[in-house]
Amino acid sequence: MTTSNKKGLFITFEGGEGAGKSEQITRFAEYLKTSGHEVVTTREPGGTETGKEIRRLLVEGDKDKFDEITEILLFYADRRIDLTKVIRPAMEEGKIVLSDRFNDSTIAYQYYGSNKFADRKIMDNLYQIVAGDFKPNITFLLDINVKVGLERSFKKAQTMINKELRFENVDIAFHERLRQGYLELAKQEPERFIVIDASGSIDEVTEKIIEAYNHRINK
Ligand code: TYD
Repeated sequence: MTTSNKKGLFITFEGGEGAGKSEQITRFAEYLKTSGHEVVTTREPGGTETGKEIRRLLVEGDKDKFDEITEILLFYADRRIDLTKVIRPAMEEGKIVLSDRFNDSTIAYQYYGSNKFADRKIMDNLYQIVAGDFKPNITFLLDINVKVGLERSFKKAQTMINKELRFENVDIAFHERLRQGYLELAKQEPERFIVIDASGSIDEVTEKIIEAYNHRINK
């Protein structure tokens, strides 16, 4: 599976807690639609009905309820369902697929963030099994100061019925490692990543995303 024989585009949004990905995806999808594109949005974990069940297992409850391998396998199972049921079919129809998180989340959270689990090879091998050489065309990394992001995230969770705080409920050092890990990934693949400063107002961030997108696709 390669990106080159696909007609559509696959664009992922990444970032730590409270970076504002979901609101920005909604706005960016609107922008693309008004520019004449067909757009499909998905999220990981939980982009499909089955994926939602996996998501519930992953994001609710005690942070130590799974060991690292079990947790990673669940993320990749969800990713496989998302790829085969949502992402690839939509791309084959020439649509632009926007995903709230994708594989970089696993590398950032389960590899860089978690310092218990040092073997990156396992994730790379699982990715190969799940997706082959398929990669997002563009990845927006919404970068934000850790404390500011966590404050935003806790505020949002207070309004939710099922508080999805399993990943927020870890120490601040985790979130710092996560942020640096993401920036490291962006540095390794500058042709895929676009780093966006997500500390401004919602409108400012949307503008930056649209501008960077147009710049990148017209290159
Ligand atoms: P998300 O719905 O994006 O939550 P938020 O809006 O809080 O950013 O993602 C749910 C959680 O799952 C989030 O804390 C990040 C985590 N996650 C991983 O740890 N690894 C992964 O591979 C993915 C896709 C998500």
